[in-house]
Amino acid sequence: MNESVTGSSDSNKDSSANKTRTSQSYFNPFLLLFYDFMLYRFISPYLWGCSSQLLVERYNVLCRNKHLETGVGTGYLLKKCNAPIEKLGLMDLSQACLDKTARRLSHLKPDVWRRNILTPIEGIDQKYQSLSINYVMHCVPGNYTSKGVAFKHLKTLLLDDGVLFGASVIKTDQSNFIAKSFMALLNTLGVFNNTKDTVDDLEAELRRHFKYSHIERRSASVLFIATDCENQYKIHHTEPDSDHFSCFAGCDEGHEPHHS
Ligand SMILES: C[S@@+](CC[C@H](N)C(=O)[O-])C[C@H]1O[C@@H](n2cnc3c(N)ncnc32)[C@H](O)[C@@H]1O
Repeated sequence: MNESVTGSSDSNKDSSANKTRTSQSYFNPFLLLFYDFMLYRFISPYLWGCSSQLLVERYNVLCRNKHLETGVGTGYLLKKCNAPIEKLGLMDLSQACLDKTARRLSHLKPDVWRRNILTPIEGIDQKYQSLSINYVMHCVPGNYTSKGVAFKHLKTLLLDDGVLFGASVIKTDQSNFIAKSFMALLNTLGVFNNTKDTVDDLEAELRRHFKYSHIERRSASVLFIATDCENQYKIHHTEPDSDHFSCFAGCDEGHEPHHS
């Protein structure tokens, strides 16, 4: 095997692992104390352009009885929503995030999995009807062409009619000066790794792994849904109370769904 190729991929892996470690170091018990207030009262609505109500509404509409929360943070959105969850899985790389969220949602007796979504996910014998990955991908190193492999790994945990949904932050000219500066700072600190993220690449990765997908942009927040199931597509295509989900990519009237 060509040594320079091997060397370069090893150094890419090292760099990705180092960036993951740096980003993870911010998800510690002390900083998590301020997380909900900072993110959902201030940063998400005013800098990323997405209210917590909109995100909670998506949980209400899209969470199914068997739900897997990936990249759990503090479990804020799950706690706020009124989705009919009976069986809950929590998956994250940060033990601090898992502990905090599991405590907060202890009434649901969650299964807790410490896993890295960038590597194949092993040792989980359950499959879920819905899976959310909210505000996670912008922390993950690489561009979507490389980190999009997370969708492939997560899909193995979805039932055939399952739905994956989430949001991520992507740079946009629509953001104000404070939002742009704050995002640059988070990238410099290594909390975020989204300098190479584009909406087109995100969409391409969802399409690579799912038959139906939908993306909606709210300033710097990009909300997405993906599924392989035509029925799920129809449900959300016609969802009366939620025009946010009314149009899956490639499935608007007169268009054929895209196939992976
Ligand atoms: C910004 S927080 C989002 C938390 C929550 N979903 C929310 O919307 O508030 C990012 C979460 O993703 C987790 N995370 C980041 N990279 C990960 C990875 N490679 N594998 C698994 N979890 C990861 C972090 O530990 C953290 O819990």
